[in-house]
Amino acid sequence: MAENNNPYLPELVTITNIIEETPNIKSFQVVFKDPERMKSFKFEPGQVGQLSVFGVGESTFVINSPPTRMDYLQFSVMKAGEVTAALHDLYPGDQMGLRAPLGNWFPYNEMKGKNILFIGGGIGLAPLRTLILYMLDNRADYKDITIIYGSRTPPDLCYKEDLKEWESRGDVNLILTVDAEFPGWDKRVGFVPTVLNEVAPSPENTIAITCGPPIMIKFVLQNLAKLNFSEENIVTTLEARMKCGIGICGRCNLGSKYICKDGPVFNLAQLKDLPGAL
Ligand SMILES: Cc1cc2nc3c(=O)[nH]c(=O)nc-3n(C[C@H](O)[C@H](O)[C@H](O)COP(=O)(O)OP(=O)(O)OC[C@H]3O[C@@H](n4cnc5c(N)ncnc54)[C@H](O)[C@@H]3O)c2cc1C
Ligand code: FES
Repeated sequence: MAENNNPYLPELVTITNIIEETPNIKSFQVVFKDPERMKSFKFEPGQVGQLSVFGVGESTFVINSPPTRMDYLQFSVMKAGEVTAALHDLYPGDQMGLRAPLGNWFPYNEMKGKNILFIGGGIGLAPLRTLILYMLDNRADYKDITIIYGSRTPPDLCYKEDLKEWESRGDVNLILTVDAEFPGWDKRVGFVPTVLNEVAPSPENTIAITCGPPIMIKFVLQNLAKLNFSEENIVTTLEARMKCGIGICGRCNLGSKYICKDGPVFNLAQLKDLPGAL
């Protein structure tokens, strides 16, 4: 395929598999139409792509499969509006457009030798999933891995197959919670920030990485501060309405930074310097 020098021109990808994660979230596994491109494509955990449905529009989604598993790229899409509804109407074999990789990524090299605490809510597990799988594929580089993950109800938990696998592993501490009692649910009940308080992980040599709804993030950050996590050791990924995805249109700016180019991954110390970030 001719080299694509136009940053707005999507590349063609084909859907190979669709997983119904929850009543309103589907995961799409895709491969580039050009098999050579599939081989040459490189990205880092935490980077995003713009998926397009032709004639409808494009939207931003994190690549939630890790670069250590390149049989396909996976995107999970929560039905929110026009583009996401059109994506939910697609089937295996259908094609869509992809502009990727965009944005920055988790500083996973700086996290080597540390304990890692993931705190996710709902679809917020998507960016964390990339890094979790990447770290499990490089398990010796990281110390204790703890995952606190919650959703409104058990059917709303994403990546149920992954959760089963992580639960069965001896080298991952998975703590699941749902907002309220639910028939057949025998694990924790309570909001993610409250469960974080109950688990009370030590900040010693630990990096906390969180993603979820803004209200969850707000209380998670407060509780991490109470647990004495330093701002440099708290990492999050932000969302904003995006258009160009490459720092040109100015749609996603936060002070002097663009979420699409300087983010979406920031640590709390960086966010504190950005007006309106939190
Ligand atoms: C860096 C980044 C990574 C993302 N990763 C994922 C992902 O992995 N999976 C996923 O399902 N979604 C993800 N999103 C959110 C996703 O881009 C939006 O939900 C999507 O663009 C909505 O498009 P739409 O045309 O269907 O909805 P629209 O018709 O544009 O909007 C529908 C409703 O959702 C609200 N909305 C739209 N976009 C956002 C947003 N970014 N944040 C908050 N509210 C919004 C609108 O205000 C409106 O109320 C990500 C966003 C960013 C910026
Ligand atoms: S989306 Fe255009 S500058 Fe970020």
